[in-house]
Amino acid sequence: MSDSIILGIETSCDETAAALFRGPELIHHITATQLVHTSYGGVVPEYASREHNKLLGPVVKGVLEQSDMGLKDIEAVAVTQGPGLAGSLLVGLSYAKGLALGLEVPLFGVNHIEGHIFANFIGQRELPLPFLCLLVSGGHTQLIHVESPQKYNLIGQTRDDAAGEAFDKVARLLGIGYPGGPLIDRISQQADPDFHHFPRSSFEGSYDFSFSGLKTNVLQYVQKNSPDFIRENKASIAASFQEAVVDVLMQQTLTAAADLHHKRIVLAGGVAANSRLREKMTQAATQENIELFQPDLRFCTDNAAMIAYMAYWKSIISEPDKLDIAAIPNLKLSFLE
Ligand code: KG4
Ligand code: ZN
Repeated sequence: MSDSIILGIETSCDETAAALFRGPELIHHITATQLVHTSYGGVVPEYASREHNKLLGPVVKGVLEQSDMGLKDIEAVAVTQGPGLAGSLLVGLSYAKGLALGLEVPLFGVNHIEGHIFANFIGQRELPLPFLCLLVSGGHTQLIHVESPQKYNLIGQTRDDAAGEAFDKVARLLGIGYPGGPLIDRISQQADPDFHHFPRSSFEGSYDFSFSGLKTNVLQYVQKNSPDFIRENKASIAASFQEAVVDVLMQQTLTAAADLHHKRIVLAGGVAANSRLREKMTQAATQENIELFQPDLRFCTDNAAMIAYMAYWKSIISEPDKLDIAAIPNLKLSFLE
């Protein structure tokens, strides 16, 4: 199984993606971003599943053609089992099961979150274990001690909003648009992060996070000032908000790393694409003599390469899944005590 051709499929939210791997190595991948949601300011679940239905066949065909391969070359199928939108997951899972059944090849259901974590090591046959992972996406903000694939301890997590969710909500509040994270990142690049000091939350004796207070603070700031002032200073307000999020993420991660004697930190998830987080983490890691891993930008947000790569590891440590596996919209990582 070690150097089999694996087809990965990802349809958990609003990206329809497929990737082809030979063992741990990426051959080709395609991510089709659904544009239908833009005018609604967020993902519309029903539209997402319809789009996956329309796009998945052509995306898989495209990835095979661009790799000079055909269906008969596929030796295993990997697919996101959860977490994600129920209808969207079902489209990918049904497609993957049909393919695995028709081609008589093994099926691997993959936890999307594990995909994000190990996306850092795509192409590698050895994992630098153990490490401390800061997982920051649209649905998650967690600090995880990763002993090995499938052996995790939860160190801290958000008590309310996820970091990506805060980016998206504040972008809407400031009239910046959707998707919020990448847009705030972009307009902040030429703006002043010290324009306004938003409070940073922390919890005594805990590595947990909180972003809802910060979001409320931005709302109050918008209400207190004139619409013209907000419009004129939108970029600097966004940059000041981003700075607060990045500071909170760094503070908790670096404190946990020091307390738990971790010398290796791994960033994962959509917010790991944030240029300010990457820049400040890189500086801090150099200062603290910490080995820092940040996923290639292509593999920070949702993609199928991370799903195929995770299936490569699953194929080494466990048996394939049965064809009756279900989509699990609220699938979580299982944590050791
Ligand atoms: O990992 P992901 O693609 O999907 C989930 O599994 O949730 O993460 C999406 C989240 C969104 O909230 C998006 O706004 C945020 O990641 N994001 C960013 C950036 N790129 C994506 N947040 C801040 N800066 C970015 N450059
Ligand atoms: Zn994701």
